[in-house]
Amino acid sequence: MALSPGWRVFASFPVNRYVVLWKAVRSSGFPLFPCGHCPWRGTGSLLDPEMKVFLEENTEVTSSGSLTPEIQLRLLTPRCKFWWERADLWPLRDPYWAIYWPGGQALSRYLLDNPDVVRGKSVLDIGSGCGATAIAAKMSGALRILANDIDPIAGMAIKLNCELNQLNPFPILIKNILDLEQDKWDLVVLGDMFYDEDLADSLLQWLKNCSEAHRTQVLIGDPGRPQFSGHSIQHQLHKVAEYSLPEPTRQDNNGLTTSTVWQFQP
Ligand SMILES: C[S@@+](CC[C@H](N)C(=O)[O-])C[C@H]1O[C@@H](n2cnc3c(N)ncnc32)[C@H](O)[C@@H]1O
Repeated sequence: MALSPGWRVFASFPVNRYVVLWKAVRSSGFPLFPCGHCPWRGTGSLLDPEMKVFLEENTEVTSSGSLTPEIQLRLLTPRCKFWWERADLWPLRDPYWAIYWPGGQALSRYLLDNPDVVRGKSVLDIGSGCGATAIAAKMSGALRILANDIDPIAGMAIKLNCELNQLNPFPILIKNILDLEQDKWDLVVLGDMFYDEDLADSLLQWLKNCSEAHRTQVLIGDPGRPQFSGHSIQHQLHKVAEYSLPEPTRQDNNGLTTSTVWQFQP
């Protein structure tokens, strides 16, 4: 296959390869995403015009190939230059926001098909990425939404994706929310967030505290990643829906065929 190794490894990572790549980058100190050369680093601006142009030029608007064709997203696809380029030429940090992950797809489908779950409620989307699940919550009538991610570029992508879907942008928090005290939310949603064991441990503790303090409902979308299936959180889950993944998502996520929505019941 004539694909450049970098993006193919990232985009198709399904978990292990992704984590391997991520850890390899971290431990080697190799600047896979040399943000030192990135003019937008640390601006924190959600509206940086230069960045907006970069995102628009290097993503494709698509609504096909996912579980939620009613949501349009700017994603990295085979029609984008950087899909084919060496990964080290990408000038930003890992673009998790440029992929619509199978866990997020299942969660978004579930919210669109079951609007009662979010209608009139406050919803926090942790690790929002492209923002699709927060967008699904908004489309289904959530009263208050906060999309959270640690990547400022994700914040910009979420804003662009809101505009694409003719939605008024909702607030976006760029911070490691696990370092903060839990606010009161009716519902917390997490799509494909259990891809790293340490992160999974921290999330579990944070979600437990949140549920205990505020009786918050928690929904998790996951396609069966080992860091999730093998985690102790499994003893506190109730399956609410399972979806067969569309063929393009299967192709980009070798070996994954379904994605499941779980309710966390501590
Ligand atoms: C695999 S992506 C999933 C994105 C989206 N939920 C979806 O399903 O398409 C994981 C996302 O979590 C974000 N993330 C990782 N650790 C985080 C943390 N501690 N707090 C908030 N976001 C985090 C990453 O930047 C990335 O956008």
